Amino acid sequence: MGGVDQAFVQEPEQRPKPSTIEVDGIPVIDMSVSGTGGIEKLASEIGNACRKWGFFQVINHGVPLELRQRVEKVAKAFFDLPIEEKRKAKRDELNFTGYHDEEHTKNVRDWKEVFDMLIEDPTFLPASPDPDDEEIRTYSNKWPENPPEFRETCQEYCREVEKLAFKLLELISLSLGLPANRLSDFFKHQTGMLRLNYYPPCPSPELALGVGRHRDGGALTVLAQDDVGGLQIRRQSDGEWIPIKPIPNAYIINIADALQVWSNNLYVSAEHRVVVNSERERFSIPLFFFPSHYVKVKPLEELVNEQNPAKYKEYSWGKFYVNRTGSNYKKLEAKNLQIDHFKTPESE
Ligand code: OGA
Ligand code: NI
Repeated sequence: MGGVDQAFVQEPEQRPKPSTIEVDGIPVIDMSVSGTGGIEKLASEIGNACRKWGFFQVINHGVPLELRQRVEKVAKAFFDLPIEEKRKAKRDELNFTGYHDEEHTKNVRDWKEVFDMLIEDPTFLPASPDPDDEEIRTYSNKWPENPPEFRETCQEYCREVEKLAFKLLELISLSLGLPANRLSDFFKHQTGMLRLNYYPPCPSPELALGVGRHRDGGALTVLAQDDVGGLQIRRQSDGEWIPIKPIPNAYIINIADALQVWSNNLYVSAEHRVVVNSERERFSIPLFFFPSHYVKVKPLEELVNEQNPAKYKEYSWGKFYVNRTGSNYKKLEAKNLQIDHFKTPESE
């Protein structure tokens, strides 16, 4: 079908439309703070963006441009390697880090290759999604031999972007009227990862997607995209897909599911997807910021009262995550686990 394998072909209603509207709606927020009230103003801009879009871009974020360029360079060098070479660092049944090119979103294959690495090495996660299974497994990163500077560059980059993620977490807490460190304890043994995404040119961009529509499951995503473009978010007001314009050296931040739950639906984890094109390859580098595996995610007590009851039952981050990742890498019959599953009757 149109030059791509059937496994990549989206259902007709999911296929991207050729003309996408150009809008400048998604806020671009300058993180450099000056003067009295600077922090409050910044937090309130972030809060507005989280309520309205669940997405924003940041500039003057503190991550050195030179480091970002270096990580982009090693990512490109890695994906340029012959497939046999890349597969030497391939993920396997026991270790989900490393290279793979078979990810599925909602059971359709994504037009992309990825390399995943844990931010914390080692990272602790439940051995299975079964609630009665208390076994915890230890995961370590798998690294490729080439390019030689891959490991060091990625590790350095993780540390810097992680700092930005913690800073954003504080600003988000403030924006909810809470102390800056209110959410920090949830990340003592964070389980997040950095992903290098490579979207090759696609012969049938009207049939396939780089990543099918989804919401990010963690707390926050901090994404660097190159100048090609392709990320689209679904506007809450009318369901229209809105492209996120590449801005050199900016980061795209999105609220993910756990923050939607902690905020008791004040903030939205917005649906998004990636369209591909037939001419240019595209690179993007998301850092997925995830809580510790033992964190029980539920609406924050300070944000819940009689008029505004909890909209979600509590769930274990580790079990939720492990349940989800189980369905990412192969086509499953069942739908994958979503936070809607934990909704209380009050949320209707
Ligand atoms: C993701 C994602 C967007 C992009 O990997 O979850 O949404 O632009 N990526 O690559
Ligand atoms: Ni995503």
